[in-house]
Amino acid sequence: MRTIRDIQIFENIPILVRAALNVPIENGEVINDYRLRRAVPTIKYLAARGAKVVLIGHLGEQGTETLEPVARALGKLLLGVSFFGETVGVRARAAIRNLAPGQVLVLENLRRNKGEIANDRTFAHELAALADIFVEDSFDTCHRAHASIIGVPELLPSYAGLLLEEEVRELSRALMPIHPSLAVIGGAKFSTKEAVLTTLLKTYDHVFVGGALANDFLKVAGHEVGKSLVSNADANAIKKLLANPKLVIPIDSLVISATAVGTPTERAGARVATAGDVRTDEVILDHGPGTSALLFSLAQKSKTILWNGPLGNYENGFIDATDAFARAVAASGAHSVIGGGDTIAAIENLGLLPHFSFVSTGGGAMLDFLAKGTLPGIKAISSHPSN
Ligand code: 3PG
Repeated sequence: MRTIRDIQIFENIPILVRAALNVPIENGEVINDYRLRRAVPTIKYLAARGAKVVLIGHLGEQGTETLEPVARALGKLLLGVSFFGETVGVRARAAIRNLAPGQVLVLENLRRNKGEIANDRTFAHELAALADIFVEDSFDTCHRAHASIIGVPELLPSYAGLLLEEEVRELSRALMPIHPSLAVIGGAKFSTKEAVLTTLLKTYDHVFVGGALANDFLKVAGHEVGKSLVSNADANAIKKLLANPKLVIPIDSLVISATAVGTPTERAGARVATAGDVRTDEVILDHGPGTSALLFSLAQKSKTILWNGPLGNYENGFIDATDAFARAVAASGAHSVIGGGDTIAAIENLGLLPHFSFVSTGGGAMLDFLAKGTLPGIKAISSHPSN
């Protein structure tokens, strides 16, 4: 993989950097700038050498949001950052021409243009017309076949940024764990996790399935899950994974009555149910203390721990299982690799970030990379004829 260290940078050269700008915003302010902090080294490297750094990225699924607050937040981390409210075209090109060497311009949300997600050829050409060189540093979107990810690298000499380089190095290393090893996959939707579970079961000593994902496994294992969130999962595929003795599922759960969900007093009737003891009118929202103790003891014995995805309904405040495991990993002394938005938020809230060996900026991208060993956006930066 060619990286920005291989670029012959000269003063005033415009360099287009696809960065991870998709960060949580509340009331027009960035509320977690972790990804932005990780974007800084590449931007600084290019700016310090006199390039005009043109940042492109997306925010939100639909493209309705503006990157203006993100540019403002980046301006608190770096000097010389400005924002331009368009993404491509004559005016955007003029704004780039007007930059002084070393200045940074954030362009408007890529997804405002339908051509981004559709990987439209014309849109890719318009993006490529903004600069002379392309740098891919948005590991978090490298699993998406979008115009800025796979279209532009066909049109411009392309290089990996420092963040992308580090992600690939660290996650490749995590695919060859030092034993004993523990992988923990939470979150929801079996279809997006099947491939990574299959891969991890080949190399890890224990693979724990948590979060809403575990409900699918408990159900197929014959346990009552009441009205818990389940996905339309392939039962035979789950049976096959369950047959592997390395696979571990929760032994108990925190449950509440389905009628209490979302009410101010929902926790009042919460109880711990062992697997199989959930009632038909109950909902699983977290795993229980028995499962946390089991994970603690597995973590204590492990030399490598890999973790992606919350272990309970984190966004609605059921954070105990996730927090307990974060503490267990931090206390383990193992080489620890984690990723996924909610997982990172949990660790930051606990002040435990420095105790983790590597924190990936990818959620879905991390899972896809672990499953396949590469991603469309990584392959694409080798696709230009200059390679
Ligand atoms: C993420 O937050 O996982 C990445 O930025 C990708 O975002 P997307 O799921 O909207 O494509």
